[in-house]
Amino acid sequence: MTEDFDAVVRALHEEGVRADAVQTDRSRRRRNLDPDEAALLGLVCEAMGARRVLEVGTSNGFSTLWLARAVHDRGGTVLSVDVDAVGQRAAAANLARVGLHEDVELRCADGGQVLRELPDRSQDVVFLDADRSHYLDWWPHPVRVLRPGGLLAIDNVLSHPDQVAELRGLIDADPRLRATVSTAGKGLLLAVTRA
Ligand SMILES: C[S@@+](CC[C@H](N)C(=O)[O-])C[C@H]1O[C@@H](n2cnc3c(N)ncnc32)[C@H](O)[C@@H]1O
Repeated sequence: MTEDFDAVVRALHEEGVRADAVQTDRSRRRRNLDPDEAALLGLVCEAMGARRVLEVGTSNGFSTLWLARAVHDRGGTVLSVDVDAVGQRAAAANLARVGLHEDVELRCADGGQVLRELPDRSQDVVFLDADRSHYLDWWPHPVRVLRPGGLLAIDNVLSHPDQVAELRGLIDADPRLRATVSTAGKGLLLAVTRA
């Protein structure tokens, strides 16, 4: 029997905040998306009819749950990538709790490698929530793999402005993209690829 989605994400958020507060090893922290950002991202994905979503940075699957719910009704798929197999095992269990495990492929791999190997225009949504120091190296693949009218979402643009300043410069200067930043949580950049 599956559990109620709202109850599970509320519990995961509360557990994540508590666990991260006492975890001294940064790489072991869950660092989940803020619930308001997750709800916004899920809603935008649903509104645009997304069916192919790439998430880079699974952790224990908090944001993955929202993305999976957004694609579920139209039979879409989330490919969620992380280098941490332990986190992905927790993500698999959390997705199963809400009955969304069949909507997600969890892949233990480097996000840059996966981005490089995806075909042009193959994704409706790319969500980057991994190690920000890699994002510039991955450019322009996050945009190359998006279809026209696709969505690029990047977390932490307000919490760590210096780390994404150069990337934001590229996005702002790119005529294919129109971007805005939601001030909810840690700052979620949303950019649409123009036709
Ligand atoms: C901020 S957490 C992701 C939080 C998750 N999106 C959520 O809301 O629950 C960042 C994750 O990125 C992963 N990561 C770091 N570098 C990566 C890379 N090069 N490729 C894929 N994942 C990476 C880390 O292992 C970590 O689990």
